Formats: sequence, C-alpha cells, structure tokens
Amino acid sequence: EQEAYNDLQKQLDHLYKTLPKDKGWKSEYIFLYKNFWLSRDVIKGLLLIQTYFKPEPTDIFLATFMKSGTTWLKALMFAISNRHHYEFSNHPLLSTGPQSAFPFLDTHIYLDQAITKFDHLPKPRLFATHHPHESLPTSMTSPMSPCKFVYVCRDPKDVLISKWDFMNKIRSKDLVPISFNEAYESFCKGVSEYGPFWDHVLGYWKASKESPDKILFLKYEDMKKEPIVEVRKLAAFMGMAFTTEEEEKGVVEEIVKLCSFETLSSLEVNKSGRQRFIAKETIENQNFFRKGVVGDWENYLTEEMKDRIDSITSDKLKGSGLTL
Ligand code: A3P
Repeated sequence: EQEAYNDLQKQLDHLYKTLPKDKGWKSEYIFLYKNFWLSRDVIKGLLLIQTYFKPEPTDIFLATFMKSGTTWLKALMFAISNRHHYEFSNHPLLSTGPQSAFPFLDTHIYLDQAITKFDHLPKPRLFATHHPHESLPTSMTSPMSPCKFVYVCRDPKDVLISKWDFMNKIRSKDLVPISFNEAYESFCKGVSEYGPFWDHVLGYWKASKESPDKILFLKYEDMKKEPIVEVRKLAAFMGMAFTTEEEEKGVVEEIVKLCSFETLSSLEVNKSGRQRFIAKETIENQNFFRKGVVGDWENYLTEEMKDRIDSITSDKLKGSGLTL
C-alpha cells in the first residue's frame, strides 16, 4: 500500500498540470475536479478515499459545505453518540476541541503520509467530510449502502462572510490576502474550495429527498432557532433517540448547552489549542469560532450584493423544493 500511495503522488502531479485551475482562497490554486473546485490536498485525499476507504454499515458521515456548522455538528454528534460514556461535568469536549472529536476524512485519510486505517475507531464510527455527494464512492452514497449522512446547510451569504474571514486567517502569509470583493466575485462564480456552493447543497438535498432514511438534511438557522427540536431529530436519525427518562433528566438541554457557541468558544482549549488537519499544518481552534450568529452578512454586503446572491440562489434552487 505504501508503494501505491507513492505512485498516487506521481499521478497527481500529472493531474494538477491538466486540470483547469483558478485562485484558491487558502492556497495559491484550486483545481476543477469533476465539477467542483478542490485544493491539491483534498484531491489527493479524494482519490485515496475512492480507492482505499472501506465504509462500515454503521458509519455516520457529517457532510457540510465549509463554514456551514461543521464544528457545531461535530460536537453535537459526538456528544449524542457518547452520552452514556461521559459525565457532562467532565466531558472530553471540555478539554479537546470539537474538531478532534472525530476525523475529517478528506485529509485524515493520509494524515501520517500513509493510508490511514480507521479500524480502531469505536462503532458507530463518525467522520466529517466537505466533499460533494456525487464525488464520494458509491459504497458510501448509494441508497443500498447502510451508511448515514447528516448534512447541514446555511444561508450562502453568511457562508461567504464566514469563509472569507476563515480562509484569510489560515491563508499562507506568503500570499496576498483575498480582498472581500474578490471573494464575493469568486463565490458568486462558484470558485472557492469545494464550490460551487449551490451544487454542493443541491447534491445532498436531492439525495435526501430520494433516501430520507439515509440523509438527514438540516439548516444552521433552524438549529439556532430551535436547537432542542433539531437535536432530538438528529439523535433519532442517528438511531440514538433520547429516552423518556433522558428527556426528564434534561439530557437534551445538557447536550445543547455543552455544544453551544458560548460554551465551546469560551473553553481554554478552543482559545489556545490547535488541530492538525494535514501532515505539516495545524489550525488554531479559535479560528473555528467567530460570531456564530445568523445574518452577520448584513454588516458586509451592499443591497446590490445581497440581491445578486439571493437571485443566484433562487435560480439554482428553482423547482428543487429547497429554500435558503
Ligand atoms: P461565523 O463565522 O458566521 O461565526 P464550520 O464549523 O463549518 O467551519 O463553520 C464555522 C461557523 O460556525 C462560524 O460561523 C462559527 O462561528 C460557527 N460556529 C462554530 N461553533 C458553533 C456553535 N457551537 N454554534 C453555532 N455556531 C458555531
């Protein structure tokens, strides 16, 4: 396998030379690979996932477009599935960042410069991914596959602001920062890591309509408005519905509180800790917590910019039954 891994590097070098490329928000370039814009690291991971990742029937994947609520959902899914193992007063999420609660498949698949085996993970295994539905292997996505997906989407206007801020924070200091106008134009054209945003959302939306038992489609805004309702839904979908006794003991409220923006962002580990996502690079946990509110785009977008994004959204989603 190590040899296959080394060969892959050669194939990739060729691929990067032939794929259409554009300016990346984090790295210098992103490449158009099968209709989505991906960084080098992520294309490499995707090829490894397609060839080597062996899903287990009980696996649950958290899929998101970047900056749509991954950190929040990671914490919630981890807290739901491990609630019988830990006390809330001494919970691992209080001392480890939510990003390390379970692996980010896209790059963790080769985090140690070899193909990662995930056999040691407790079942059900939880994984996060930003890959679009259509890019993942059918062993994961086919309606016949028993694996489940939780997808969270968010208003693209808030995603744009959050992503622009985040990417500039983690962008190499050797590169010129991305200006807001540049980010806005690229986002509208679909050109940003894992973009186009709308195609990403639609892929999961359509799949969730076809197989509602396999894909739970959530919205960040609904979760902010009614976290208890959405967390109950999430637990039931994961096959871990809260019992009457748990409801009476206030377990749902405890989980919502533990995973709230206020609790997580004020923890020492999320103020000063770091997380490794690719072999040579770590990201400060604090970068995953900015404001955690709905509608912050109002502080950045002009009326004209807002109208343009809204009209792209309504054109793209027309007839799908989804509104954002
Ligand atoms: P903002 O930049 O709008 O504040 P992701 O986790 O997918 O990278 O998304 C990050 C966004 O989710 C950021 O949005 C971040 O502040 C927000 N976020 C992080 N943790 C959260 C939580 N526990 N509850 C609500 N929002 C959260």
